[in-house]
Amino acid sequence: MDEKIDTLLKEGRVIQPTARTKAAAHIQDYDQAYKASIADPEAFWGGVAKELDWFSPWSKVLDWNYPWAKWFVGATCNIAYNCLDRHANTWRRNKVAIIWVGENGEERIFTYGELLRQVNRCANALKALGLQKGDRVTIYLPKIPEQVVAMLACARIGAIHSVVYSGFSAPALASRIQDAEARVVITADVGYDRGKTINLKGVVDDAVRTSPSVEKVVVVRRESPGVALAAPKEIDWVEWLQTQSAVCQAEALDAETPLYILYTSGTTGKPKGVVHVHGGYMVGTYITTKYVFDLKEEDVYFCVADPGWVTGHSYIVYGPLLNGATILMAEGKPDYPNPGRWWDLIARYGVSIFYTTPTAVRLLMKYGEDWPRKYDLSTLRILGSVGEPINPEAWEWFYRVTGSDKPIMDTWWQTETGSILVTPLPSVPLKPGSATRPFLGIEADVVDKEGNSLPNNAGGFAVIKKPWPSMMRTIYKDPDRYKVYWSTIPNCYTAGDVCRKDNDGYMWFMGRADDVIKVAGNRIGTAEVESALVSHEAVAEAAVIGKPHRTAGEAIKAFVILKQGYQDSKELVQSLKDHVLKELGKIAVPQEIDIVPSLPKTRSGKIMRRVLKAKELGQDVGDISTIED
Ligand code: WT7
Repeated sequence: MDEKIDTLLKEGRVIQPTARTKAAAHIQDYDQAYKASIADPEAFWGGVAKELDWFSPWSKVLDWNYPWAKWFVGATCNIAYNCLDRHANTWRRNKVAIIWVGENGEERIFTYGELLRQVNRCANALKALGLQKGDRVTIYLPKIPEQVVAMLACARIGAIHSVVYSGFSAPALASRIQDAEARVVITADVGYDRGKTINLKGVVDDAVRTSPSVEKVVVVRRESPGVALAAPKEIDWVEWLQTQSAVCQAEALDAETPLYILYTSGTTGKPKGVVHVHGGYMVGTYITTKYVFDLKEEDVYFCVADPGWVTGHSYIVYGPLLNGATILMAEGKPDYPNPGRWWDLIARYGVSIFYTTPTAVRLLMKYGEDWPRKYDLSTLRILGSVGEPINPEAWEWFYRVTGSDKPIMDTWWQTETGSILVTPLPSVPLKPGSATRPFLGIEADVVDKEGNSLPNNAGGFAVIKKPWPSMMRTIYKDPDRYKVYWSTIPNCYTAGDVCRKDNDGYMWFMGRADDVIKVAGNRIGTAEVESALVSHEAVAEAAVIGKPHRTAGEAIKAFVILKQGYQDSKELVQSLKDHVLKELGKIAVPQEIDIVPSLPKTRSGKIMRRVLKAKELGQDVGDISTIED
């Protein structure tokens, strides 16, 4: 991490937008637009909201009862209506909405009209099962179009979707199904990962066994012969939709109706169910997609995220569809079957907007420049990065291999924020490694623990000073945990990131300030991994830290104290890794596990991860006066 911070601090380059980029941009003068938006944020957001369709108007843009926000008070709307009908009722009916490419090269194309019909069938099928407004549906699918269909179908009838990333294991899936008390689970027989078949149905079987709320399991069957289904609880997706009508009116919902729950990691072992709502979330994802990526009618938009994470929710599904964009959705990894995979897709489909992650860029960087050079990337116009800080080396490489004239939007945001909050716009001068400045209508700052603004270049906590439409409304079933975000530092929303602002007001995000780590951009709580380790029969205690990693940004390192009678061995360490894999999933498996005789603790018994980390990195351990041993 420190190496990363050092290079970030040394970084001084400024890259001006090309005349072409600037002339094309929706927002040509950021400073002026920003000032106007901040002078009257409610007028700004109200104006944005008017670009979308509402069934009935709001009486007030914002009702702010700290820390509880209601946006577009009294209005009714439906985000799925705005994603689909708003386009399908115009010439866009036959415009391509989604081009999907499977890992095996299979291609499926949905126009806005066809996507609407599919969503309507699915919405009617959900209704036929008795699903109603407010009921929860867990979606555990690989990156296939049915995922989008299922999400929008829930939204259409006012049901709440809870998408669980298909890399999570059965216990992790079960705890999310149970917390949400989902009535229906939608899954697939298998997913594909670098040519390997992943048995998703098996994971769901295990999870559902301990989840009494689940009445039905709908299965998308990709393999033939099809996996056996146990009727009447298990239903085949195709049969489920077949008999349903392709017409289904979108439910007129109060703007504050929950749209989805998305579980994310915090500082305790229990994931947090972040709740987003129809109205405000629709406004935030719509306008950020439009302005940040300068989206135009003829663009082909490619975001590499998985819909299992918030980037997939906001910037594969909702934001781009709200804008009537053509979206490329590709299953699989960037280097399978070879490291030309994404460059090939960009060339083949004429992608103009490409939104990816620093980890993927660093991975592709390892394979060398010859790969991107082989393909015609001239259709690219705007690039994006998200999920973790992008180091200037990776930034430079990405910029150079794509032609040195496509601006990179380094977008900073979180599951909780719903949409992008700090980011360049294409017309804004760039500094490699900086997410630049706040989006329109957003007041961001760097403060100390008491909430005082810090002078330029001092490191502190990133905060947001006013509510914004796409902010989470609560943590599902745990409002107190929601309140923490708005009470950790007085009078503002604390993001949990360390940041500094330079003399131009550019923000440099430097990683998490809490016990959350970002491994390949995936958010993992150290406490989650620790509790998985401790549930292994041989483990007495465990402590987990994030450690700098060349491609993944951070890697998981665990320190483990064994119970009496167990001995350090290669086999034991492997069985600990296998255990975490089984409990949580691949993304949470520690890269390194050290067996240790003791752990640094405070007198009250709290493990001092900070000390472990400093020692691991060979740094000064700082103040250890509270240490017990
Ligand atoms: C955390 C949120 C944002 C959607 C995907 C991740 C880190 C995110 C950046 C960026 C530096 C970033 C922060 C943040 N992060 N984007 N551009 N520069 N750090 O959402 O899983 O909720 O993670 O990701 O640490 O707090 P998430």
